[in-house]
Amino acid sequence: MKALTWQAKRSVSVDEVPDPRIEFPTDAIVKITSTAICGSDLHLYELLGPFLGRGDILGHEPMGVVVEVGSEVTNLAVGDRVVVPFNISCGHCFMCRRGLQSQCETTQVREYGSGAALFGYTKLYGQVPGGQAEYLRVPHADYNHIRVGSDLPDDRYLFLSDILPTAWQGVEYADVPDGGTLAVMGLGPVGQFVARVGVHHGFRVLAVDPVPERRAMAERHGALTYDLTDTIVDELRDLTEGRGADAVVDAVGMAAHGNPGVHAAQSAIGLLPDAMARPLMEKAGIDRMAALHASIDIVRRGGTVSLSGVYAGDADILPMKTLFDKQVSMRMGQCNVKRWIDEILPLVEDSSDPLGVMDLTTHRVPLERAPEMYETFQKKEDGCIKVVLEP
Ligand SMILES: NC(=O)c1ccc[n+]([C@@H]2O[C@H](COP(=O)([O-])OP(=O)(O)OC[C@H]3O[C@@H](n4cnc5c(N)ncnc54)[C@H](O)[C@@H]3O)[C@@H](O)[C@H]2O)c1
Ligand SMILES: [Zn+2]
Ligand SMILES: [Zn+2]
Repeated sequence: MKALTWQAKRSVSVDEVPDPRIEFPTDAIVKITSTAICGSDLHLYELLGPFLGRGDILGHEPMGVVVEVGSEVTNLAVGDRVVVPFNISCGHCFMCRRGLQSQCETTQVREYGSGAALFGYTKLYGQVPGGQAEYLRVPHADYNHIRVGSDLPDDRYLFLSDILPTAWQGVEYADVPDGGTLAVMGLGPVGQFVARVGVHHGFRVLAVDPVPERRAMAERHGALTYDLTDTIVDELRDLTEGRGADAVVDAVGMAAHGNPGVHAAQSAIGLLPDAMARPLMEKAGIDRMAALHASIDIVRRGGTVSLSGVYAGDADILPMKTLFDKQVSMRMGQCNVKRWIDEILPLVEDSSDPLGVMDLTTHRVPLERAPEMYETFQKKEDGCIKVVLEP
């Protein structure tokens, strides 16, 4: 089959690779019909090379049709249309039973001290072949699927795989009071949905992103938007009676603009041999923390900062004095996709499309064009906000 593989820093290619096969009786094979590129894939493309192997198949936002099931899969049949969540979880362990599927104890990658295995995502998360491919092997298939109907187009459902429940969890964790103000840092695909979920819940949403077309998209869905300027923290404070927002969702993560010195350190590490780079990446505290620091500044005293954006350094320094003095709560983590699906599924099927799932994809192209699309998405060229690939 054809699949998108990682080759080197900023280099991916579409190659012919062996078809996946049933390896355990709990597996299923899904023929992929739509599969998206995520901001998290850009971390693999740019920064996390030391944790990838040449030829690793990327992708964790897929959907398609079941073509084969293992002998112990009881609730899926050939022909079923499914979305595949990006976490691989068992559904019955201590963590899964508590709605913490991203911490699943059956698939945890203990070798690296990580939570649940993820599709298409580095050695730290199990190096499981991903879904930017013609076919995908789905482990624990009884649990790792969201079955959907056959009438509506893929775009209605595809974002259930990751970014929509991620945004939903980000807003839940932000614990915004009724009618309160939610600030959103970053209007990539995740931030777009964070803003829309906030509006849907009746919050005043103030969102920040340096890219004009991303701000325009968020305005269409009811957010007030602001450019990333040197005075942005003061601007938002002025809009909130000088206090700051009740809650902030950081939907940027470690790819933040605004800290050139650190960028140089990260780039240098990206080019070191794996054995040297890995400990540096883990320990050196080289994350770009600009959006997180701004979030801590913008939240009001006693408010909550919720991190949807991914951070991956162990030695980053947080402003503990400010966090303690302002009595800030913080929540974060990979999304527990299956935990939120029952609440979100009726919204994506609603004909009025309250979360605007049909207004996010800017580029829908054949899988063969994935390499150029990684570059376009990363550079935010050609109005690119969300790319969906068709294998
Ligand atoms: N927690 C999870 O389970 C989960 C799931 C999916 C994605 N993510 C993470 O969410 C983050 C966003 O993903 P995405 O797909 O929207 O990616 P993206 O890279 O397209 O979005 C990031 C946005 O932030 C903006 N930005 C950059 N610096 C900023 C700053 N200092 N202040 C405000 N905005 C700034 C960029 O212009 C861009 O629009 C990534 O870190 C991704 O890894 C987490
Ligand atoms: Zn993703
Ligand atoms: Zn589990």
